[in-house]
Amino acid sequence: VTEPDLVGRHVVVSAGGTREPLDPVRFLGNRSSGKQGYALARTAAARGARVTLIAANSTLPAPAGVDVVPVGTAVQLREAVLRAAPEADAVVMAAAVADFRPAAYAAGKIKKKDGQEPEPVTLVRNPDILAEISADRARPGQVVVGFAAETDDVLANGRAKLKRKGCDLLVVNEVGELKTFGSEENEAVVLGADGSETAVAHGPKEALAETVWDLVAERLN
Ligand code: PMT
Repeated sequence: VTEPDLVGRHVVVSAGGTREPLDPVRFLGNRSSGKQGYALARTAAARGARVTLIAANSTLPAPAGVDVVPVGTAVQLREAVLRAAPEADAVVMAAAVADFRPAAYAAGKIKKKDGQEPEPVTLVRNPDILAEISADRARPGQVVVGFAAETDDVLANGRAKLKRKGCDLLVVNEVGELKTFGSEENEAVVLGADGSETAVAHGPKEALAETVWDLVAERLN
């Protein structure tokens, strides 16, 4: 039985992966399907929260009773998060956000030219949304949760990322071409800024989502 412990709360969840366009037909992207973020949105709604789901390029159906805001790029995701955050008791950043975007956007499709080497792609930094909303809380007592997608030295990198980002909780999960991205299951360690570490065994993405909301609810109450 789901406890209605988020009744009266508004939560913002980001999901999916940003796409950074090079020209009208190409982009730099990542392998996020949105499943983990959608599981967070569904489980929060089941616990009674009002949910705003900021969805980057996900093809999943909108969960019942959840307000979905579709976005494409990291810059658009930032705008949507900053717009929703002032009303949120908690913000959970499960989206895979591109750290960099192409410096230039070509208005027409980039063509290959006979006998010429390809032009290098120059990248510029995207804003770090999680660091920004952690440093500058839109509401006192707001709980901010990040995710860390790591391929190696998973826990050590996660601990360093928690300090760098300044969030209250960081869900550290291992990823690979066929690991976590797009799958129905996940496993993780949730690091708390208070030094707590909560391991979540391999299982459905909903199970990890429930643990995240348990830890958020503890911090809200
Ligand atoms: O969508 P699925 O297929 O279900 O896969 C789930 C997932 C692997 C995408 C998810 O569980 C996950 O790990 N999401 C975070 C992916 C990510 O961007 O990790 P990161 O370690 O690069 O970023 C750390 C945190 O900072 C994340 O909360 C991210 O949303 C945030 N970030 C990152 C870069 C940036 N410019 N701004 C940010 O806010």
